Amino acid sequence: MKNKPSIFNDPSNNSSLPKHVAIIMDGNGRWAIERGLPRFAGHRAGVQSVREVVEACIELGIPILTLYAFSQENWKRPKEEISVLMELLDFFLGQEIKNLMKQGVRFCTLGRIEALPEGVQKKLAQSVEQTSKNEKLIFNLALNYGSRTEILDAVNQILHDVKENPSKFNGAFELDEAYFSKHLYTRDLPDPDLLIRTSGEIRLSNFLLWQLSYAEIYITKKYWPDFHKDDFVEAIRDYQKRERRFGDVGASA
Ligand code: IPE
Ligand code: IPE
Ligand code: MG
Repeated sequence: MKNKPSIFNDPSNNSSLPKHVAIIMDGNGRWAIERGLPRFAGHRAGVQSVREVVEACIELGIPILTLYAFSQENWKRPKEEISVLMELLDFFLGQEIKNLMKQGVRFCTLGRIEALPEGVQKKLAQSVEQTSKNEKLIFNLALNYGSRTEILDAVNQILHDVKENPSKFNGAFELDEAYFSKHLYTRDLPDPDLLIRTSGEIRLSNFLLWQLSYAEIYITKKYWPDFHKDDFVEAIRDYQKRERRFGDVGASA
């Protein structure tokens, strides 16, 4: 990368790097419309931003990245747009797998994958399997993801386990946060430290409601296809200036 910002060269900054960054990639449609292009052109253009944030995480040493690519609510969109999104996903997986392997990226999915087109499901499973030993970066793609559904899936899984194996729970079972978290799609992953949303919208749109409880939030007006490596670095810099208190009084008290 040309003109690496100082954050890349200053290892003393590493302690304050987020371990897990989550991004709501938003604004593809508006990016395209403002250029007189069809909405799908924005989705296409957004693929390059995905590549750039993956690279930036590796270069910075951020170990987990979670990108929101398709929500459960996105099925409300016109059929043509959904088709393009699915084709794009198919194309991305086909194209990027080599790169992900080269970069040491472990690819994972979050969400109800079983509702996606079969071809896409197959490619997703292959990519997950093929990259499963990679350790440089965990790259989660949230697809047909809904946080309320994720929470209900966890509750239902636990209810099922209790019913199937009552003796294990000894009649006096009480959920705690750690046990519950392990039943979410994110399982053993630490919660995101930083949530980035592009396109200026200030809402969660049903994304990681449980896991984002104490995340720092960074909103940028830039549309997703305009969000590049330097914008990601700027978000990280901003994060590094935050004082995270977790309910305590803070360092200056
Ligand atoms: C984000 O961009 C991509 C998806 C939700 C799939 P949008 O398609 O939501 O773009 P805007 O918000 O309409 O501009
Ligand atoms: C959130 O963006 C979902 C993804 C980025 C995949 P949306 O564009 O769907 O969110 P709303 O509808 O503006 O809340
Ligand atoms: Mg949007």
